[in-house]
Amino acid sequence: MLLAGKVALVTGGARGIGAATARLFVAEGARVAIADRRAEEAAALVAEIEAAHPGAALFVPLDVTSETDWQSAVERIEAAFGPIGVLVNNAGIIRVAPIEALDVETFRKVIDTNLVGTFLGIRCVTPSLRRAGGGSIVNFSSVQGLEGRQGFGAYAASKFGIRGLTRSAAIELGPDGIRVNAVVPGPTKTKMIERPGWSDADYDAMYGKYPLMRMADAQEVARMVLFLASDQSSFCTGGDYLVDGGTLAGKPRD
Ligand SMILES: NC(=O)c1ccc[n+]([C@@H]2O[C@H](COP(=O)([O-])OP(=O)(O)OC[C@H]3O[C@@H](n4cnc5c(N)ncnc54)[C@H](O)[C@@H]3O)[C@@H](O)[C@H]2O)c1
Repeated sequence: MLLAGKVALVTGGARGIGAATARLFVAEGARVAIADRRAEEAAALVAEIEAAHPGAALFVPLDVTSETDWQSAVERIEAAFGPIGVLVNNAGIIRVAPIEALDVETFRKVIDTNLVGTFLGIRCVTPSLRRAGGGSIVNFSSVQGLEGRQGFGAYAASKFGIRGLTRSAAIELGPDGIRVNAVVPGPTKTKMIERPGWSDADYDAMYGKYPLMRMADAQEVARMVLFLASDQSSFCTGGDYLVDGGTLAGKPRD
């Protein structure tokens, strides 16, 4: 039980990597607030978790770009569970287009959700983490937070930014016993990267050139989030933690 007695807030927890993280955290003894805009999917996940672990999950409506949403989410979670010991800034969106075809509204929306949303999370939850006596913040970068890619201008800018924000927050919050790290997933099987009409063979062809020759399951990323959230990573702060199947090891095989 790596998270026994801890209270965690997982943004974007309704589906994908966030949902896998919420399930794993509860299995490891945490009480988890699933914070998302997708009320229906989040409520279904809460019902699933509660059936096996009564009192362990709570849905909190949250648009990560709204400071007032963040403030009321923290109030609701503290009232139900007490101070927050783990914040997972997982919510994110992607828009793919060449820079010349990318309108400024779309660029701003990606930055607002991924980067400003993470900033607001750190800012609004830190007082609660202090009330908990310290804790861990896990931010979500991406392999596109370490290298560029055609069509990924907005997404890569947001994910590079998250790594800078993570390091600055680690320096500021370390003295208060709050660790801040970034997880760097590679291609992971979720709705975010689903392409209409693609078969498994299409995905295998796309990812087969990388060392592990496949996409990750969301649980494989969630296990890294668990490590960073728990005391197992007690001397880790300000770092980037790759779960990328070797994507960043070097050039793909021919
Ligand atoms: N899937 C991948 O290949 C991959 C790779 C690298 C990094 N990531 C990162 O992992 C994180 C999770 O991605 P995923 O693949 O599970 O995606 P997903 O699309 O399956 O889930 C994202 C969740 O975030 C929520 N969300 C989006 N905007 C929100 C907002 N404004 N407020 C609150 N919630 C919001 C969505 O409702 C959804 O539940 C993201 O930060 C993503 O950038 C994913």
